[in-house]
Amino acid sequence: MASLSGKTVLVVGGSSGIGYGVAKASLLSCAAKVTIGSSSQAKIESALVRIKNDIAASGQTVEGNLSGEVVDARDSASVKALLERVGEVDHLVWTSGDDFFDVRFWGAFTAAQVAKIRPGGSITLTVGSVVVKPRKGWSLAAGLMGAVDSLTRGLAVDLAPIRVNVISPGAVKTELWDPMPPEVRNKIFEDSAKTLLVQHVAEPDEIAEAYLFCMKCQYITGQRIEVDGGAKYV
Ligand SMILES: NC(=O)c1ccc[n+]([C@@H]2O[C@H](COP(=O)([O-])OP(=O)(O)OC[C@H]3O[C@@H](n4cnc5c(N)ncnc54)[C@H](OP(=O)(O)O)[C@@H]3O)[C@@H](O)[C@H]2O)c1
Repeated sequence: MASLSGKTVLVVGGSSGIGYGVAKASLLSCAAKVTIGSSSQAKIESALVRIKNDIAASGQTVEGNLSGEVVDARDSASVKALLERVGEVDHLVWTSGDDFFDVRFWGAFTAAQVAKIRPGGSITLTVGSVVVKPRKGWSLAAGLMGAVDSLTRGLAVDLAPIRVNVISPGAVKTELWDPMPPEVRNKIFEDSAKTLLVQHVAEPDEIAEAYLFCMKCQYITGQRIEVDGGAKYV
């Protein structure tokens, strides 16, 4: 089976949520070096400790090196400086998102433009199931996600043979939902679970598997993988 043995992985957005899951899963898949990037030094430091504790609590040991780098994905100079500091990597994963186009589209675009990806490496971006099934009031998000989705296919052509793919999660239990009161959030998760074929809302670790696949499989590029618990069928 392919692993990430000896590989270096940069996860921009790795201080929480899906990116946190990808960083942890990369270490568990034997990556030699994993770097998480986000805009908050405090969140990075907390994430570094939590990832190590999570792995220790699971009873597994990893040999890879884990570190963090501050980057403001709204600022292309900051993104370029990050990629310069980190240098060559095998895999770039982009899960950062807060405001709309600046972080999710332009940040990812700039990183893909300047990243030094080693032969056999990959870039994996992130959209959301709104890209194929927008809800009422979600037009702007759908437009943004569509732009990142199309960007993925464009980059796969421009950067070939570097592989470029995009993951499209459905609902995932991450810090993204923290601004909501817990009772509202829990009700949304409970209601969503009832509508999903898999009957539960995903944990970040379940979504991380799709990113690992895109890093490891040498024959996938220009693709969107929907990891939505079967939402689109109901
Ligand atoms: N959770 C879901 O249900 C869900 C569903 C579908 C799609 N998605 C998409 O998946 C992506 C990741 O979501 P998530 O749930 O993992 O969110 P999250 O837990 O809120 O994580 C977002 C990450 O982005 C980073 N970030 C935010 N602003 C940044 C900036 N200016 N520069 C650099 N990093 C920045 C955050 O770190 P700092 O705050 O430290 O900067 C954090 O590490 C998002 O694009 C989201 O829209 C999520």
